[in-house]
Amino acid sequence: MSIHISAKKGEIAKVVLQPGDPLRAKYIAENFLEDAKLVSQTRGILYYTGLYKGKEISVGASGMGFPSIGIYSFELFTEYDVDTIIRIGTCGAYTTDLKVYDLLNVENAASESTYAKFAWGIEEESISHQGNIFNTINETAKEMSLTAKATNIHSSDIFYRKDPAIPAIATKYNCPAVEMEAFGLFANAKHLGKNAATILTVSDIIPTHENISADQREKALKPMIELALEAGIK
Ligand code: HPA
Repeated sequence: MSIHISAKKGEIAKVVLQPGDPLRAKYIAENFLEDAKLVSQTRGILYYTGLYKGKEISVGASGMGFPSIGIYSFELFTEYDVDTIIRIGTCGAYTTDLKVYDLLNVENAASESTYAKFAWGIEEESISHQGNIFNTINETAKEMSLTAKATNIHSSDIFYRKDPAIPAIATKYNCPAVEMEAFGLFANAKHLGKNAATILTVSDIIPTHENISADQREKALKPMIELALEAGIK
């Protein structure tokens, strides 16, 4: 047990898929894994461990934002000896160059957040994916005939804001889309020498307000889930 995860030692696999939403973790466990066992439900943040194509893998939620993914990814890496975390989430596009359903493999996450600086003394505004899992995802996407664009992402603390203009940091680091967790995950993995990647599905186009509706989401996220599972068991 750790402070925020009630699984016993050994009940979490070396590779963890991390969606933001606990019910998405449940959906993945129930529809993609065999012999999935619920190993933690502290605070309703569900973690499952099961088999994908005969290999052990875990799936559990990060919650939203750096404080939440910061806690869960740190405890997974340090208390459960997890080697690799693949975040699977959605993002909003700043530009109509991206389309809803596009898949992105995050190369660097840029943020105005002080999380990395005050947690680990990491001063950079932009932190890259960690370890080899990013490359494994690229190779796996090719094998599956999926396009997962290598992209920089704006990781923001803010969902609602007054000013509709694209934030300066997104322009500075060439980030066509925004989400709220990758920077925190990459900071933890960098500090701890672990592997971390983030795969995103574009769920909304901010300038046009086009989005994937709630009832389209399960189907929309299937390629991302399968890509993460296939890369995760390599
Ligand atoms: N902002 C931040 N995170 C997001 C968004 C957004 O517009 N869409 C999906 N995740």
